[in-house]
Amino acid sequence: MLVRKALLHDASNIYDLVNSLSGDGTLLKRPFAEICENIRDFTVAESEGGVFLGCGALHLYGPHLCEVRSIVVKPEAKSQGAGGAIIKALIEEAEAHGIQSVCLFTRIPDFFFKFGFRIVEDKSELPDKIFKDCQVCPRLHRCDEVAMVRGRIPRMSILGPRHEAQELVKLSG
Ligand SMILES: CC(C)(COP(=O)(O)OP(=O)(O)OC[C@H]1O[C@@H](n2cnc3c(N)ncnc32)[C@H](O)[C@@H]1OP(=O)(O)O)[C@@H](O)C(=O)NCCC(=O)NCCS
Repeated sequence: MLVRKALLHDASNIYDLVNSLSGDGTLLKRPFAEICENIRDFTVAESEGGVFLGCGALHLYGPHLCEVRSIVVKPEAKSQGAGGAIIKALIEEAEAHGIQSVCLFTRIPDFFFKFGFRIVEDKSELPDKIFKDCQVCPRLHRCDEVAMVRGRIPRMSILGPRHEAQELVKLSG
């Protein structure tokens, strides 16, 4: 198995796989144009023969925070180490950028515990994530995801202040 940065020709495989799991909210829906625009965020895993196995993305908010997004492995390729290899590559990428804090929202915290993530009880401690995704999410008022972070919780935010994030999180129950 090979793990490498994505190239534009991977965009259609990424689009198909990510959106196959967006219907039930496992992953955020991502339009094809948005995947192309952000293709440099993505890392892909492929077989020795070059068959696409899965992907994940690292979104950079700034020097204080980045986020693992759209991590997914094709059903037939699960449990063979691809997901673990992708998350490790994304963590290394965050480290190469000097970012101390990697966050994510998930329904499967047990997978991410294995890679050093811990639960953040108060989601408003990650205001940038709240402002980027949560405030426009149809599930804002019935969020069933767990917030997690690896490294320290950032003291700063750039998309909006923490007190406004707290108000939004209160609304989500
Ligand atoms: C989560 C996912 C990416 C894992 O990929 P994978 O290739 O099957 O994972 P790996 O084979 O690399 O497993 C690595 C470790 O995680 C464990 N693991 C895998 N899936 C897990 C899960 N859903 N919950 C808890 N642990 C899990 C494995 O048992 C393995 O543990 P080990 O090292 O102790 O043996 C894959 O199951 C998937 O695509 N799920 C659907 C999409 C999804 O939910 N993505 C997360 C959105 S936040």
